[in-house]
Amino acid sequence: MSWNARVLVGQSGGPTAAINASLAGVVQTARALGAEAWGMRHGVQGLLADDVVDLARTLPDAASLELLRQTPASYLGSCRYKLPDADADPATYERLFRTLEARRVDAVLYIGGNDSMDTIAKLSAWGARAGSPVRFVGVPKTIDNDLEGTDHTPGFGSAAKFVATSVAELGRDASVYDLPNVLVVEVMGRGAGWLAGASCLARQDGLGHPDLILLPEAPVSEDALVEAVRGLLARKRCVVVAASEGARRPDGSLMCEPPTGAVRTDAFGHAAALSGTGRHLAQLLGERLGVKTRAVELSTLQRCASHLASACDLAEAAALGGVAVRAAAAGETGVMPAIRREGNSPYLVSYGLADVSAVANAERRVPAAWIREDGMDVTSDFADYVRPLVTGEVAPLFVDGLPLHVEPLA
Ligand code: F6P
Repeated sequence: MSWNARVLVGQSGGPTAAINASLAGVVQTARALGAEAWGMRHGVQGLLADDVVDLARTLPDAASLELLRQTPASYLGSCRYKLPDADADPATYERLFRTLEARRVDAVLYIGGNDSMDTIAKLSAWGARAGSPVRFVGVPKTIDNDLEGTDHTPGFGSAAKFVATSVAELGRDASVYDLPNVLVVEVMGRGAGWLAGASCLARQDGLGHPDLILLPEAPVSEDALVEAVRGLLARKRCVVVAASEGARRPDGSLMCEPPTGAVRTDAFGHAAALSGTGRHLAQLLGERLGVKTRAVELSTLQRCASHLASACDLAEAAALGGVAVRAAAAGETGVMPAIRREGNSPYLVSYGLADVSAVANAERRVPAAWIREDGMDVTSDFADYVRPLVTGEVAPLFVDGLPLHVEPLA
């Protein structure tokens, strides 16, 4: 298939260690088909400002695409911008489509999570209404793994690998003194506990850490948590709790907020920039149990640790970028390539297309059947699901002892 076209690609939402692998997959496949690849800076916000770059200038060859693959964060810049409702603000859409026409864009590809799929759904709906020939295709990514329509999302496997590795390493460090102590590791994931759950893989290190896992899907009372940790401390010196940043009490309040605290939200209505769950729980457990406690917030380290990316994740991220370009070339619009798991041993996937409107704004949460009855751990089915996604190591290029990244976009 050859395609004489111009593809405009953007990145949106929180970055991942694999989001640039998807971008590399888009650029490589577009070029292989004979199409030009352009980038919008800071997602749709950049498009609104006509801030676009010809990637032939900034990513001219295979070597730069290879470096892009091992570079963390969103190369093109990102945004958390919600497009207005088309009926309420048609002028915004008219402006966007004028820019696309002036820039001779044939397809818009948007690498992002459920909020970004909202953008693709709205743009493809307006395009259909306006009779525009431009195709709009989403490319999935999020460390939160909370997208509907796909078995898992690029970015999750690498973050899961970092979280499980860090919990194993931190658990060893916390075990050195002959003193009872509790370590709380705070993991990202505002509404879904996939990433906190992935910490269960640390148990293969032999110390049994994490001892407890707290997920947003399974509210737990602070009293129940204190008693569970007390019971564990009667049997072992060091207890590790992996707590999702979105861990909640049974009344729905976030552990990182006072019980009566109103939850701050962003433009998409998500709890905004959560943090503090680990600190709060470490303080609570220290006060109630009289033992040494420590909190570690993995924060953005877990989504930018490209040096510990999962090879499986990066390969799937790049493949999905390619599938998205081919879908656009075939005339598809309003779709998102998705991963279908064909088997676990051996691990095998195929790629299909999901309707983006079924993905937009929806949140796929950890099923109740994969959470232990007391809400403080995941089951072996969960571990079987996540295990293949962290497999394979990358061999980043190091210079003078440090990983080399692609030149920042000027
Ligand atoms: O995109 C997902 C995510 O990484 C969440 O897990 C986290 O809560 C949020 O983004 C943080 O967003 P920001 O970087 O905008 O603070």
